[in-house]
Amino acid sequence: MNEVNKAEFWDTLYKINSVGWDLKTPTPAFLDLFKSDYFKEKSKLLITGCGYGYDAVAAAKSNFDVTAIDFSETAIQFAESLAKKENVKINFLVNDFFLLDENYFQSYEIIFDYVTFCAIDPARRKEYANKIFQLLKPTGIFAIILFPIEKRIGGPPFAIDVDEATKLFSDKLELILSTDNINSIKPRKGRELLQLYRKSNG
Ligand SMILES: C[S@@+](CC[C@H](N)C(=O)[O-])C[C@H]1O[C@@H](n2cnc3c(N)ncnc32)[C@H](O)[C@@H]1O
Repeated sequence: MNEVNKAEFWDTLYKINSVGWDLKTPTPAFLDLFKSDYFKEKSKLLITGCGYGYDAVAAAKSNFDVTAIDFSETAIQFAESLAKKENVKINFLVNDFFLLDENYFQSYEIIFDYVTFCAIDPARRKEYANKIFQLLKPTGIFAIILFPIEKRIGGPPFAIDVDEATKLFSDKLELILSTDNINSIKPRKGRELLQLYRKSNG
């Protein structure tokens, strides 16, 4: 089994502070989405692989009803203390995203992913897309920043082929926005793409 499927793999990286992906601040392009028509205040928002929780806390401070999941206990402990410090309520789940069951289906108006899709086992990408579909409410929005979109060997992060990812998520969702014109941090400029997908009403 690919080691990235195990919580211990990620938890160890947090414990030894080998967290090269961590921005230590909310994702700028995510903050920009709060002003868009797709992100309505008070929406039920799920953040997958929330890590240290900067995005979750920023969203809660902007009046979204936030659930944030990560299977690293160390990451969630940090995120919980950040939320406490910032005086916001967030529903943190220490759980494997793939194990979210029918109790969570059709629960979220928005789901956000930043550098989680590239962190999972590439063999499980279809399973991931199906889970996103199950968790979204009808008309719900899936917002993902695809990174890294250049060719590379190995991972994590595992390379994302834009056409492949678009085909995968478009199987059950409608692509409504795809743009590289976003507020990327300097080292990731030109290497990422924001996409928004909508689930149908049916
Ligand atoms: C590269 S990190 C990104 C963290 C955060 N999104 C950020 O931008 O800082 C990937 C995160 O996904 C989490 N993760 C990976 N697979 C997961 C799974 N199956 N269930 C829950 N969390 C998972 C890891 O523990 C890790 O925190």
